[in-house]
Amino acid sequence: MSPQTSATAEAPVNIALIKYWGKRDQSLNLPTNSSLSITLKSEPQVGTTSLHTRTTVRLVQGTDSFSLNGRPCELNQRLLRVLSYIRSLRSLGPVAIESANFFPTSAGLASSASAYAALATAVNALLDPPLSAQQMSIAARLGSGSACRSLFAGFVQWEMGCDADGSDSIATSLFDADHWETLSCVVVILSDQHKEISSANGMQRTAMTSSLYPARLKMIPFRIAELTCALCAKDFSRFAELVMRDSNQFHAVCLDAFPPIKYLTEQSHKVIQTIHALNCGPSGTIAGYTFDAGPNAFVFCERPDLDTIEAALRTGLPDCRMIRCSVGLGPKIVE
Ligand code: PMV
Repeated sequence: MSPQTSATAEAPVNIALIKYWGKRDQSLNLPTNSSLSITLKSEPQVGTTSLHTRTTVRLVQGTDSFSLNGRPCELNQRLLRVLSYIRSLRSLGPVAIESANFFPTSAGLASSASAYAALATAVNALLDPPLSAQQMSIAARLGSGSACRSLFAGFVQWEMGCDADGSDSIATSLFDADHWETLSCVVVILSDQHKEISSANGMQRTAMTSSLYPARLKMIPFRIAELTCALCAKDFSRFAELVMRDSNQFHAVCLDAFPPIKYLTEQSHKVIQTIHALNCGPSGTIAGYTFDAGPNAFVFCERPDLDTIEAALRTGLPDCRMIRCSVGLGPKIVE
């Protein structure tokens, strides 16, 4: 059989339920805290929006190249880091990388996570022997920290690790996608704008200047343990409260950075108010929100409550776009 010269992979986005924010090593993307995420799969939509990245990697003559959504781009440091790590482990010639996102990039929708997970998966299909799970985790992480979590289905923990070379800073699956099939997420797109400050710069500034930040780091192991119990028991109300509290705390430490970092907009706060108002109703906690480094909301609920929650959001924010998601599977090779 002739060796494979091209592979296409699709990888999902993940949204952090307990956020990664801060690096103990900038170039290796080693985090100051462990994090926990859910992998998302968007339901088929009218239009082209779908929360995944599709990447084709071809072995070529000449030099490495990269294009995003059909536009040639420079190979950035992050891409180069991933390729050079893989080349330190396996023989890999020059490659042409063509990547396509089916949703707005750099808008707090975790586009870099799906991008580097798709890249690692596509390159891996060309390697013989393929990389180990640990090496895949490291390769994706070198592109974008959160990308190591997009290599898995369901609920995923990225253990911060303590080794200086990052060999123990890897993601593992906590619960598979079918563990909690009724859990749904509505992604509320309020803005397609690029965020004003990148995650990399934002987390660095927060770690260096926020006096609340050390308290957050201390609390995270307990939060992760509690959230794992809530997930295990499929206790929605506990799950939602922990996720909202972590999101609020993350944005609070960002505001406590100096100069302050503000990712949420008035519209984001409208989402927050709407959810808390809903949760004061007779059914108790039926929804929870989280926001990454951007204004767009990820609203969780159980499937039977989807219509109620979307209607409430639509009343306050008639122009927002909403994408329904369920708990998703990991990356796959599609060609
Ligand atoms: O992986 P990065 O460098 O894009 O940083 C991700 C940071 C957050 O999305 C805000 C939180 C997270 O854990 O994904």
